Parts: sequence; C-alpha cells; structure tokens
Amino acid sequence: MIELIKKLPKAELHLHIEGSLEPELMFKLAKKNQIDIPYKDIDDVRRAYNFTNLQTFLDIYYAGANVLITKDDFYELTWEYILKCVEDNVIHTEIFFDPQTHTARGVAFETVLSGIKEALSDANAQFGITSCIIMCFLRHLSQDDAFATLEEALPFKDDIIGVGLDSSEIGNPPSKFKDVFKKAKEEGFKLVAHAGEEADFSYIYEALDVLGISRIDHGVQSINSPELMQRLKEEQIPLTVCPNSNIELKVFDHYQEHNIKQLLDFGLNVSVNSDDPAYFKGYLNQNFINICENLPLTEKDVIKLVKNSFNSSFISEALKQAYLKRVDLAVAQ
Ligand code: ADE
Ligand code: ZN
Repeated sequence: MIELIKKLPKAELHLHIEGSLEPELMFKLAKKNQIDIPYKDIDDVRRAYNFTNLQTFLDIYYAGANVLITKDDFYELTWEYILKCVEDNVIHTEIFFDPQTHTARGVAFETVLSGIKEALSDANAQFGITSCIIMCFLRHLSQDDAFATLEEALPFKDDIIGVGLDSSEIGNPPSKFKDVFKKAKEEGFKLVAHAGEEADFSYIYEALDVLGISRIDHGVQSINSPELMQRLKEEQIPLTVCPNSNIELKVFDHYQEHNIKQLLDFGLNVSVNSDDPAYFKGYLNQNFINICENLPLTEKDVIKLVKNSFNSSFISEALKQAYLKRVDLAVAQ
C-alpha cells in the first residue's frame, strides 16, 4: 500500500502555506528579521505543538507567521513546500494564504503574493508542478475587514483563483460573510470555505446555501446529518479532508475513529490533504499512510481518493483528463 501511495501522482487542495513553515525556517527567519519567538530551540518548538483544539493551534500558528516579512521569506516558505511536493509526487497544488495575518503587521499584500507566486512559477518551470492560489478571509475578524482585503486583492485578480474562509470556526458561522462572498463571486472568484471542521453541520449548510461555495474544506461533521450526507452525495460536492489535522486538533481521538472511510463508502466526493503539515506531523503521503494503517482502506479506495482530488480541482477539463491518465498509468505499472 505504501508503495502505491508513493508512486501515485497526486493533487493537494487544502494546504495553508503558512502552515508549511517548518521550525528550522522559523528560527532562521526570526534571526534574520530580528523577530522574538517564544522558543529556545527546535525541540522546544516541537514540544509546543501539542494542541487540544483548533484555537490552541491557531494561537501558535499566527505567532509563527510573524517571522515572515519580506518577499524572499514568502518565496523560501513556498519553495520549501514545493520540495515536499516533489518528494511526495504531488503534481498539482491549490494553496491557501491568509493575507490579513500579514497586512495587519504592516507587510504589504503584494509582498506576500509576489513571493508565493514567484516560487510557484519556478516550481512549474523546474518540476512541471501546476498550482492555483486561494486567499482566505480570517473568520474571527469582521466582514468589513474581509471587504477591505477583497479590495486589496482586486488588482491581483489574475493571480488568485478563489477566496476561502478559515481561522476560528465556532462562533463565526459562514453567514457572517454573506455579503463579501457575494461580491467575490461577482468579481469572478471561485468560492470555498472551511465548514464542519469543529463546528456542527449547520455550518456546512450555511457555506453551501448562504455563501454558495463549490467546495467544503474539512466537512467531516456532515456525518451527523443523514439529510446533508444524501445531498453531498447527490451533488458530489467536494470535501477536502485533512486526517492528520483532525487527529492533532482532537476532532477525532484516534485514526481508527476517523470517518473518511465512512464518507467515502457512502459515496461522498472526499479527498486527502495536509492542511498545515509543518504543525501536524507530515505532508500528503504521511496523511495517506496514517489512514491506510488505521482504517480498512483498500487500494481501490486510495486510487479513488486520489482521483477525487484531481476531479475536484480548479484546473481545466483537459488538464484534469491528462492528470487522471497519469494516475491510471501509475496504477498499471
Ligand atoms: N488555518 C490554518 N489551518 C486551519 C484549520 N485547520 N482550520 C481553520 N483555520 C485554519
Ligand atoms: Zn485548513
């Protein structure tokens, strides 16, 4: 099984670039930019990565992002993630970034975007990896703040395929962002949102029916509504599931209790993703390995999960077909 996981070309649809900041790079950039971080060494950082829920992670994740200041920093962050993609045979990736985390500290929107973009362009030139960029609004902030961020993004519309919604879920339902998502849609952005990660399935309904999103990030709480499960199945709405994240943030106590196999068996369009791999003990292949070692997933299931991610991506139909052929070819070998 591990051989199959490694040899399959894969797509990743749920990856926060700030969540790929490894402790080594955090230390290097903290020193270069003279930013204080509350750790004495790398081991100390890793010891702090002991989360009890989403918020305990977010507090540490936002503090880590403070070391990112210059365009080169964002380039290096993104390039290091790309090298992991090469290692894991990820050939297409759709990455999130959180502009407000940086603009609130005085780092310009363009600085962040241009560093990420340049690394992704080099990734395509050197490795043939394709990618899209999705900007997320932080849901613990106001809708007005999200509107201001959308305004800032308009000059860079060609570089950003969609908008998403992330950060502290409970108490910040999708409906809080109804108007800004409406405007983003009018401007031509694709729409996604984190929903049903920690909060109940009503957040998934809101993301679908109030925001009009086309892909749900996480969505594992859908299991608690037979009616929603039926709808997600009929409409084949993609759920970008992140197993390591769900375990590290205590959404499930053990991999054996993760519901990805149940969602898949029911006929939902689920994929496997790494979310914040530097914080959650592993990149994409490790997510596949962890679920395969703990759940009765078959080779056929793994192939289906991989194909779902290409089918749910924002690439052209032609490229989708070309990538699906590459998956079939790898399976046949
Ligand atoms: N930002 C980064 N990772 C996140 C997650 N898993 N949920 C919500 N916001 C996030
Ligand atoms: Zn996420």
